[in-house]
Amino acid sequence: MKYCCLIIPLFISNLVNASGSLSITVPDTMEERVKACTICHNNKDRIGRDAYYPRIAGKPAGYIFNQLKHFRDGRRYYQPMAILLENMSDEYMLEIAHYFSSLQLPYPPPEEISMQPEEIEHINMLIRLGDLDRSIPACQSCHGKLLMGIKPFIPGLLGLPLAYISAQFGSWRNGGLMRGQDSNCMSEIANLLTDKEVVAIAKWLAMQPVSGEPDQSELLLPKLFHRCSELMYLK
Ligand code: HEC
Ligand code: HEC
Repeated sequence: MKYCCLIIPLFISNLVNASGSLSITVPDTMEERVKACTICHNNKDRIGRDAYYPRIAGKPAGYIFNQLKHFRDGRRYYQPMAILLENMSDEYMLEIAHYFSSLQLPYPPPEEISMQPEEIEHINMLIRLGDLDRSIPACQSCHGKLLMGIKPFIPGLLGLPLAYISAQFGSWRNGGLMRGQDSNCMSEIANLLTDKEVVAIAKWLAMQPVSGEPDQSELLLPKLFHRCSELMYLK
């Protein structure tokens, strides 16, 4: 905690004051300005704090932008980020979103997790086909065939830490502080799954090797688009 509090103020002025004066020795590039972000979001390891921090490089820009606004405006809670984003304009957040979206960084290897074969089979079915009886669409139908997301609003699901994925489902299902206050298509889907399924899905996703990137050519079916319509435009 002490570490965050000391480091963040050093970078805040660079980040918030995009066009302001900078010391001559620091080049005024986006890479420099987002150092306040990459102390947490560089995801080099799967140990310590990196075991939780989500990867953001390569995610669709509209998705990243929406999340930044949620953190800034209190719809998604994580205080160290809320402080950084407090006075940031939408325009500058969009610039940051495009910057991270265009970054192509290598992915860490998948996590080594064991699962029962029947669990794997069940999750494969939810991912590819969903469960119509329970009104759960296939995860692939919104997150793309490769689960790498669909530009510009749907995030990829691979290359994320197990601890992070589990926490997102936890907050959607429990109305938690982090992400669960507003009901949306994803919280609704999370609530249709059983506890066991959520645990197994998080494991299954964290075990997958990553290939591909968010797709622009894939189209969401109109009814899926409608289901998530409140999340699919830049507010
Ligand atoms: C102190 C560590 C820390 C700093 C600094 C930080 N983040 Fe985060 N970030 C996190 C954590 C932890 C989460 C996940 C919070 C949660 O569980 O909802 C997150 C979530 C995100 C997400 C959502 C990811 C997703 O897949 O939904 C985005 C986008 C993001 N951060 C961008 C940024 C940007 C841009 C900055 C710099 C302005 C920044 N972060 C600074 C730790 C940090
Ligand atoms: C109807 C479309 C739709 C379906 C089906 C769907 N999702 Fe999502 N999902 C979304 C949207 C939209 C978001 C982004 C939410 C936001 O903007 O906050 C999302 C976000 C997520 C995230 C958060 C990613 C991150 O980086 O934080 C996870 C994890 C996730 N979905 C898992 C799943 C799983 C697993 C399934 C299948 C059981 C599934 N989703 C099915 C639309 C869908």
